Amino acid sequence: MARINDHYLNLSAGYLFPEIARRVGEFTEANPDAPIIKMGIGDVTEPLPPAVVEALHKAVDEMAVRDTFQGYGPGPGYDFLREAIADNSYANCPIDADEIFISDGSKCDSANILDIFGPSKVAVCDPVYPVYVDTNVMAGNASAAGEDGRYGGLVYLPATAENGFQPPMPSEPVDLVYLCFPNNPTGTVADRATLQAWVDWCRANKAVLLFDAAYEAFIQTPDIPHSIYEFDGATDCAIEFRSFSKTAGFTGVRAAWTVVPKGLTAKSADGNDVALRDLWSRRQSTKFNGISYIVSRGCEAVYSDAGKQQVADLVTHYMDNAKLLREALTAQGMTVYGGVDAPYVWVRCPDGETSWQMFDRLLNDHHLVCTPGSGFGQAGEGYVRLSAFNSRENVEEAVRRLRA
Ligand code: MLT
Repeated sequence: MARINDHYLNLSAGYLFPEIARRVGEFTEANPDAPIIKMGIGDVTEPLPPAVVEALHKAVDEMAVRDTFQGYGPGPGYDFLREAIADNSYANCPIDADEIFISDGSKCDSANILDIFGPSKVAVCDPVYPVYVDTNVMAGNASAAGEDGRYGGLVYLPATAENGFQPPMPSEPVDLVYLCFPNNPTGTVADRATLQAWVDWCRANKAVLLFDAAYEAFIQTPDIPHSIYEFDGATDCAIEFRSFSKTAGFTGVRAAWTVVPKGLTAKSADGNDVALRDLWSRRQSTKFNGISYIVSRGCEAVYSDAGKQQVADLVTHYMDNAKLLREALTAQGMTVYGGVDAPYVWVRCPDGETSWQMFDRLLNDHHLVCTPGSGFGQAGEGYVRLSAFNSRENVEEAVRRLRA
């Protein structure tokens, strides 16, 4: 008889964003004329950079001709793209092209990476991108949630206003630690000393650091690190996830990469050190056929001179939106974090309101959709997240409504 993966039964609610979409859908059905502005899920709104569009068209034309047609690509990704990433995104880091694995998204990579680890003690920040938590429940690394909403077996590291949204290091040994900087959902960043301390902690405790840097392109402040590999020892302990999604408007195109350095190892049951890069390579070549040639050429164009300028303009557009939101909320006397080096603004709910109460109020009274902070974990209660991924027109209208 077929058996399910019983770990799935330990999952609490549905995934956060479909739940928000369901509530917004209900509201829209009851109020079909309400001019809703969505600032919930962080999904880009602006069209692809022209250099990318041109490269995509050219690649389509190549696919239309026998001599340049491409079938299956290399599993880890086309060399031209892996090299472009190594040369540009890791120019100042000890990362080679053959340590870079192209994929169709950081969400799937940060989930799929668990395939290459055995049962693990896992530390996550709170609030946290829900994918890290839910996939560990699915993998059996966590048991059903208690009354406080926290899953058993996970080590939660609260990132609060009191600690400047810098999660403390685990007070017990763990095997895997997830960090995300610039942070989703709080929009805050970590400085050099903090990230070096994390690398040192992971090395000393033989933990693997799963570092999600999907939002690095939005960093504006000089000297805020963009990659974990800027730090001594990181190639011995860290895997990094990076994405074209938010950087270059690829949420609908799908492209990302994961770095697994050659020197990074973990123990087998018989006590040997095994290279995680080889396991990830094996995992990907068995379960994944890579992203398309067409999309790969689009990604490569992100690193052309024109592409770099156009991506910088996109980032400026979204970060100017974040600034408008921050200023409007601050002028209303709200307490606001993030939105300086990340496209998310983390807003304290006023007057003891809960996250879902503020969500409902913004939706009902202002027709604005946010993401309730409690959806990201217990420590997110009492906050909502606003995404700066929007048109300027929508953000200006949202600001008018917030001011009113
Ligand atoms: C978010 O809103 O947190 C992101 O869009 C989710 C994601 O990138 O999967």
